[in-house]
Amino acid sequence: MQEVDRILQLREELHRHNYRYYVLNAPVIGDQEFDTLMHELQMLESRHPEMFDPNSPSQRVGSDLSQEFRQVEHKYPMLSLSNTYNRDDVKDFYVRVSDGLGNEPFDICCELKYDGLSISIIYEHGALVRAVTRGDGVQGDDVTTNVRTIRSIPLKLDGDKSYPANFEVRGEVLMPWASFEKLNTQRREREEQLFANPRNAASGTLKSKNSAVVAERGLDAYFYYLLGEDLPSDSHYDNILSLNQWGFKTSEAMRCVSSLEEIYEFIDYWDRQRSTLPVATDGIVLKVNSLSQQARLGMTAKNPRWAIAYKFQAERACTRLNNIAFQVGRTGAVTPVAEMEPVLLAGTIVRRASLHNADIMNSLHLHRGDYVYVEKAGEIIPQIVGADETRRNAGGEPIPFISLCPECGTPLVRYEGEAASYCPNDVSCPPQIKGKIEHFISRDAMNIEFLGPETVDEYFNRNLIHDAADLYSLQVGQLCGADGSKLKSARKIVESIQKSRSVSFDRSLYALGIRFVGKVVAKSLARHFGSLDALQRAAREELLEVEGVGEIIAQSVISYFHDERNLMLIGKLEMAGVNFIMENHIEGSADGVLSGKSIVISGVFTRHSREEYKDIIESLGGRNLSSISSKTSFVLAGENMGPSKLQKARSLGIPVVSENEFLAMTDIS
Ligand code: IVH
Repeated sequence: MQEVDRILQLREELHRHNYRYYVLNAPVIGDQEFDTLMHELQMLESRHPEMFDPNSPSQRVGSDLSQEFRQVEHKYPMLSLSNTYNRDDVKDFYVRVSDGLGNEPFDICCELKYDGLSISIIYEHGALVRAVTRGDGVQGDDVTTNVRTIRSIPLKLDGDKSYPANFEVRGEVLMPWASFEKLNTQRREREEQLFANPRNAASGTLKSKNSAVVAERGLDAYFYYLLGEDLPSDSHYDNILSLNQWGFKTSEAMRCVSSLEEIYEFIDYWDRQRSTLPVATDGIVLKVNSLSQQARLGMTAKNPRWAIAYKFQAERACTRLNNIAFQVGRTGAVTPVAEMEPVLLAGTIVRRASLHNADIMNSLHLHRGDYVYVEKAGEIIPQIVGADETRRNAGGEPIPFISLCPECGTPLVRYEGEAASYCPNDVSCPPQIKGKIEHFISRDAMNIEFLGPETVDEYFNRNLIHDAADLYSLQVGQLCGADGSKLKSARKIVESIQKSRSVSFDRSLYALGIRFVGKVVAKSLARHFGSLDALQRAAREELLEVEGVGEIIAQSVISYFHDERNLMLIGKLEMAGVNFIMENHIEGSADGVLSGKSIVISGVFTRHSREEYKDIIESLGGRNLSSISSKTSFVLAGENMGPSKLQKARSLGIPVVSENEFLAMTDIS
């Protein structure tokens, strides 16, 4: 077979496997087999640049190149639905439709209302040509490159299926709960602002300028609307089934019904069951099923008359806002927190709710004494959604965001591109100093038992400590009462402080509280550099080679070591005997089997843990790197290695070494 034909054959085969894996959830081949086919395709594509196709399965990994979004006009405007919140409105809709159709029979298609962002995609001759966001309904952003990375969206339809030559399909791009939680855990670790809910996360991701980021974040998409000149059926329901046949992910919850009672049953069922779904839903959508009846009903200025959205009631409570407190964290970030009369909401008593930042707080226009509505956002965190203005006291004052730090009076600042306001006084603003000490003693850092926020507060107020290093000069006599009371606990405290001097380097590094250096990054840095000294000397490029370290973290580490005050603190800690050296760290021994080799580990291993492999590599003189580049010597691949990593390795011609091959190569059992 000609190479060119083989490329076409492989593309088709890989599209089919993608579909089976991401849409049907029923793969017929293993990851390794998939990877082998992908490798062959990439190799052949690199030999035939004239065969480039943006819809090739090899393009799903996205690219780091920054892109600007072009504004594109929709062929058919993207309408929104009018919302209803109760059964009477649903009944009114039903009656209106019936009247509008002169009392002839009609069916209603009941669907879930997915809570993501809508997307419109155009297919020509079975190939995805353009994907556009809703925008203002008339024109939106061309996000084709990003959409191509969403694995469940077909890039090429199966040629055997009879789809129209041109059609447009609309659906919702979503971030499944599992991907959302993973992303926020990662962001928490890096002290980055969390996404409030999967919708914001999906939207932020789809509008990312870097499509490689989109490829990693595990977005999904469900399709619920087909448009075009020659559609397969006059029934909306049947058209969605066709969409499903052509390879699109559609909802299994769809039901076609012919009475109001059945609609209510559908609503009740999904109001209870929606928490079991992998993605967020915020209501249901009712659509007249027949397209010709839809056309007869037509639309109002903004919404179709043939469809309506019924929104599920978010669990909501109303209570009095007593005050807004402003909290200063250890990084100096100021968070407004609403303090309310306690109220029961979805099984728990709520007293406080974060208002996140100045923009969010100001958008709520809160007054002291307001009655506010509290909802559980994403079904987890209580959030104020608004105030009942009809119950507002005539004299009630609006509460402004503060301009001075409530703790030290320093004018607050806002850094470009950040939503938070900061108190820049990290030298003498008490909560920042205390926060840093509390972080230092915490369990994952120096793990100083018997010390807690209250004791730190007390010692700070008594002028016994001004920074974390001062802990090491505390004497039992200073901590117990003059009459010898609390002697036992004072001894324990001093003992546990002294004991902490020998914690492992990754912990003492994490304890320093360098911005964006969370537990995991501290471990990678400690393992890579072996000592604080080496880390301090590291250049930006070297930092970027470490697993989990990107531009922002690298810059933060560099700035940390440029600050004289941090160097003084480190000096004091070293004098006190705190350990800043990795135990068993063997500097890349020049004669090790892996000396001079840069290795990326990926996947799950059976003979040793991932961490053990990292240690093995370093003890044999090799270096662990996080991402694959042309400088990578080889990839040590376990099972389930991420397809994007594998594709990248293949495209750069980097060898992929299996666990057994690696063990044989290093002579380790
Ligand atoms: S149909 C003309 N069906 O809700 C009808 N929309 O305001 C077009 N949505 O912008 C929309 N699930 O983002 C439809 N099953 C569903 C939906 C759905 C979620 C979203 C969509 C739309 C908004 C309606």
